[in-house]
Amino acid sequence: MSVTASGNFSYKTGRAGAELLGYDKGLLGRMPDELIDSFCGVGNPFSLGPVNPGDQVLDIGCGAGFDLVAASCLAGKNGKVFGIDVTPEMLGKAGKVLAGYSCSAYELKVAGAEELPFEDGSFGIVISNGVLNLSPAKANCFKEIYRVLKPGGRLRIADIVLKGERPASADPLRDWAT
Ligand SMILES: C[S@@+](CC[C@H](N)C(=O)[O-])C[C@H]1O[C@@H](n2cnc3c(N)ncnc32)[C@H](O)[C@@H]1O
Repeated sequence: MSVTASGNFSYKTGRAGAELLGYDKGLLGRMPDELIDSFCGVGNPFSLGPVNPGDQVLDIGCGAGFDLVAASCLAGKNGKVFGIDVTPEMLGKAGKVLAGYSCSAYELKVAGAEELPFEDGSFGIVISNGVLNLSPAKANCFKEIYRVLKPGGRLRIADIVLKGERPASADPLRDWAT
C-alpha cells in the first residue's frame, strides 16, 4: 500500500513540508523519496533540541516512519527508536522503511498515545508530530508521556492547536445531527 500525504491537508506535506520545516538536508538526502513523500507532520520536533548518539527515542503516532528514520540516524548504532501508532497499515509502512534505512535498533507497536505499552522511565526522549491533537483524551496522553520518560527526559512535540471557538464547519458530526 502506498501512503503518500496528499491534498487532504491544510498544510504542506511530503518533501515541500519537510524542507519548509527545516529538516536537515543531509538527513533528507539519505531518505528514499517514498518516505519523504509520506511525511505529514505539522512541525519539526528535531528543531527543539538534539537527539544524541545512544539515545532511546519514542515517536508517538509515527505514521509511515519519517521522523523515526530521522531519529534512528541521529541515535546511531548504540541507540534505539520505538514507534507506536493506532493504524497498523502505517506501522507496516514504517517497518519496511526501517528495515532498509534504520541506523539503530528499532521496535514498532500498535498502540495509542493514551495507554503506552512501556515501563515507567523507559525513554530519554519522546517526540510526536501532528498526533496529540487527534486524541480526545489529551490529559491521559500527557500523563503517559510523563510516566514513560526517564527523570530529566525530554519531550519534543510539534502539533496544532485551535485558538478560540471551533467553527461549526469543523464539526465532523454536523451532517449527522440534522
Ligand atoms: C498527521 S499523521 C502524522 C504522522 C507522522 N508523525 C508524520 O509526521 O508523518 C497522524 C498519525 O497519528 C496516528 N494517530 C492518530 N491518533 C493516534 C493516537 N491516539 N495514538 C497514536 N497514534 C495516533 C495516525 O494513525 C497517523 O499515523
